Amino acid sequence: MKSLTSNTQPSTHDPHAAVVEVQNLVYAYPQQEPVLREISFSLNPGDRVALMGATGSGKSTLLENLIGLKQPLTGKILINGIPVEPKTLPQVRRQIGFGFQDANDQLFMPTILEDITFGPRNYGVPSAIAIDRARQLLADFGLEAYAHRSAHELSGGQRRLAALAAILALDPTILILDEPTNGLDPAWRRHLAQVLLKLPVQVMLIASHDLHWLSKVTQRALVLSSGCIQVDANIQSLLQEGDTLEQLGLPIDW
Ligand SMILES: Nc1ncnc2c1ncn2[C@@H]1O[C@H](COP(=O)(O)OP(=O)(O)OP(=O)(O)O)[C@@H](O)[C@H]1O
Ligand SMILES: [Mg+2]
Repeated sequence: MKSLTSNTQPSTHDPHAAVVEVQNLVYAYPQQEPVLREISFSLNPGDRVALMGATGSGKSTLLENLIGLKQPLTGKILINGIPVEPKTLPQVRRQIGFGFQDANDQLFMPTILEDITFGPRNYGVPSAIAIDRARQLLADFGLEAYAHRSAHELSGGQRRLAALAAILALDPTILILDEPTNGLDPAWRRHLAQVLLKLPVQVMLIASHDLHWLSKVTQRALVLSSGCIQVDANIQSLLQEGDTLEQLGLPIDW
């Protein structure tokens, strides 16, 4: 299952310590040069962070390392103090709501109502409560009339919204989204920003090419280029730096 969350947290972790900590991570696809080289950063309680970088810079690869879908060659990832490794994956993933770049990877049940209730039911939420919550989320995302349709019968933007509903149904404490505005019109992009700004999560990490939208939702930007985090800065300040962005393959007006 690919929707990975819950609000359970380890009680022993210092509430002021980093929620996500990445130390000297190196990742390479088989038989290739590393895509990610010596990546280190921390996300602290309250952080809302943009992950920026040109096409192919490694954003999705990095996010998939964070939830253990890919294993680094070297380096360490800690989620609320828990090292991400095969034996801790269930514990790690219970804390994280993860949105795939391709919404089709998130939706696999016969109907989207079942997609949205799948995760909560899997974590023991009674069926009636899971369905009530799913119907509320469907309404929030304009999908009430589509509850009993399969994802294949939705538009690309509707599939994106259904996938986001499936993630939010788990009330994640850590939210990691890969290109969440793909396929959304301006009104839904604004609505999604409003929804995300109200979410009571510990940290949010969002990969996107939608720099203007990111500047509304996040405060801090990490920029990936040549396998490294080249910039870790306030997003509003960074968006004033047209030349820097251009050099990083992110021309601001395009
Ligand atoms: N399964 C794979 N096998 C080999 N190389 C891969 C694989 N998936 C991705 N890559 C390569 O790894 C690099 C990083 O890809 P990734 O998908 O992480 O980039 P990205 O920053 O998310 O790009 P985009 O903005 O297009 O989503 C690219 O050069 C890509 O070609
Ligand atoms: Mg990507």
